[in-house]
Amino acid sequence: MLYILDTANINEIKRVLDMYPLDGITTNPTIISKERRDFKELLSEIRNAIGERMLHVQTLGTEAQDIVKEGEYLTKLLGRNTYIKVPVIPEGIKAMKILKAKGINITATAVFTPQQALVAAKSGADFVAPYVNRLDNISGDGVRVVLGIIELFNKFNVSTKVIAASFKNVQQVHKVSLAGAHAVTISPDIYDNLVKFPLTEASVEKFIKDWESVYGKGKLTV
Ligand code: E4P
Repeated sequence: MLYILDTANINEIKRVLDMYPLDGITTNPTIISKERRDFKELLSEIRNAIGERMLHVQTLGTEAQDIVKEGEYLTKLLGRNTYIKVPVIPEGIKAMKILKAKGINITATAVFTPQQALVAAKSGADFVAPYVNRLDNISGDGVRVVLGIIELFNKFNVSTKVIAASFKNVQQVHKVSLAGAHAVTISPDIYDNLVKFPLTEASVEKFIKDWESVYGKGKLTV
């Protein structure tokens, strides 16, 4: 199970990198525009911060030839372990086949149905990213779609991996993990919430209080 961070905020990336296990970063045009910085400089800074971990960066074009050009450009700029996120529109599928032939890593994104995922996988996608919360928000069932994708991939021996994406809460993350998603991409807030739990905090407070009532303030090592 891979934990990927869905942000382009360099401070948050460094904080999480220092604190938790981290397998990579995903971005999209919305996430990058939030930072209001020169995007090339920002992406290079992220690459430096995460070393050779995976960096998933999205294209903007809506025609296959533009998507391919952008994918080649980003791969050259960001080097090894860069994954080009391509939306599963028809021109995106066409672009995936071309990018694959050029040996470029692909993450199919904006996936909302298992069949979109299967077509993307057959077109060369290394990862597919189903959006859980965006479906839940319109009365769909994001976790069920993730389950459907995993079932199809298992049934047909597809090696493409699933990065479940678009989360609003820890429960959604837990459910896609149980469904067998290979990776989740989550905001720094959600990552904190995966770890933090009130009873854990309360237990730690009590341990310290009990210790201090006998040994006074201080550390174990002094
Ligand atoms: C990741 O690949 C997606 O870009 C992202 O998770 C979308 O999340 P959102 O629905 O919270 O914007």
